[in-house]
Amino acid sequence: ATRIGILTAGGDSPGLNAAIRGFGKTAVGHYGWELLGFRDGITGLVSDRHVPLDGKALSGILTIGGTILGTSRDKVHKFPTEDGPVDMVPTVVENYEREKLEGLVLLGGGGTAKNAKRLMDAGLNILHLPKTIDNDIAMTDTSFGFATAMEIATEALDRVHSTAHSHHRIILTEIMGHNAGWLTLGAGLAGGADVILIPELPYSVEKVAERIQARLDRGSSFSVVAVAEGARDIDDTADYQAARLLVKSAKNAEAERAARAHLASVEDAQREHTFRLARELEAATGLESRVTILGYVQRGGTPCAADRLLATRIGAAAADLAADGQFGYMVAARGEGTEPVPLSEVAGKVKTVPTDHEWVTAARKIGVGLGD
Ligand code: F6P
Repeated sequence: ATRIGILTAGGDSPGLNAAIRGFGKTAVGHYGWELLGFRDGITGLVSDRHVPLDGKALSGILTIGGTILGTSRDKVHKFPTEDGPVDMVPTVVENYEREKLEGLVLLGGGGTAKNAKRLMDAGLNILHLPKTIDNDIAMTDTSFGFATAMEIATEALDRVHSTAHSHHRIILTEIMGHNAGWLTLGAGLAGGADVILIPELPYSVEKVAERIQARLDRGSSFSVVAVAEGARDIDDTADYQAARLLVKSAKNAEAERAARAHLASVEDAQREHTFRLARELEAATGLESRVTILGYVQRGGTPCAADRLLATRIGAAAADLAADGQFGYMVAARGEGTEPVPLSEVAGKVKTVPTDHEWVTAARKIGVGLGD
């Protein structure tokens, strides 16, 4: 029978099991293939650790959070070993051939798209299924995990409202998203945040304080601020971008190492930015301020209906592509349907929030402060 491999890589997100099931049930039940599940992302591919995914293994997993296969953030071309990073592409090609695979399906985000492209370039039959709570994968309308995380963050903002209101406080709620503000903006709008801060719009503390002061003047003695993990004020943004530019323009390995160390120290210094902003807003407005970091709660637990449906559709569509012998694609969500997009158009790109996006303009129209 046709043998296909599947794995999950990158940060976990709700809907991974639903996608494994959607692909798996189509592959095993509909097409009669043999399906191998590689453990812990690229790690399992390198060490050829896998489990058979038969009908029984694929049953009862739809509602389970995380991934039954395990995951990791390892890169195939810089795989961590005792002797430092090693290019494991040739090892993976060997394992693929030894296992007599005819295709390999990778479920993951932007990092996984890069791994997928490297394996495709090495001649393997690859498909990529887009998952991330960040919604930052290029060339797809959305990705599974995002809707669930937005539900969780929205509920958190609802709950934070009643306590902020009761205590006349500012509560800053930090929401995941290191590159892109989709989750913070979406949940911030759905959860009625008064101020929303995202990486795409560097903020000024004065502007945020003004917005909160204007609410105070109107008799609203509390505010809820949704802050993206990767949001920065104008000065921090300049420092961060300069540090990133240094890495990109490094002329040799030594310069790159130094630039990366510098970038890490800049990131480290900026890590507690939400707490710093809370202190600054407290000083500026006289309102007591508190911080809530939502963290991994946003990635855990059962997927919502929209993500279960999306993951199932994308999974089943991927199996159809494989049956057609079509590889080298990410299976994108487009409008009501799905569409194969060449991996070369996805890998290495990040979908950030355009500053004229409708979510941004709607926020401005309804009077939400964006800190700019
Ligand atoms: O990419 C998803 C994400 O949840 C980001 O929003 C967050 O910055 C990152 O993963 C956290 O990564 P880790 O799982 O390595 O802590």
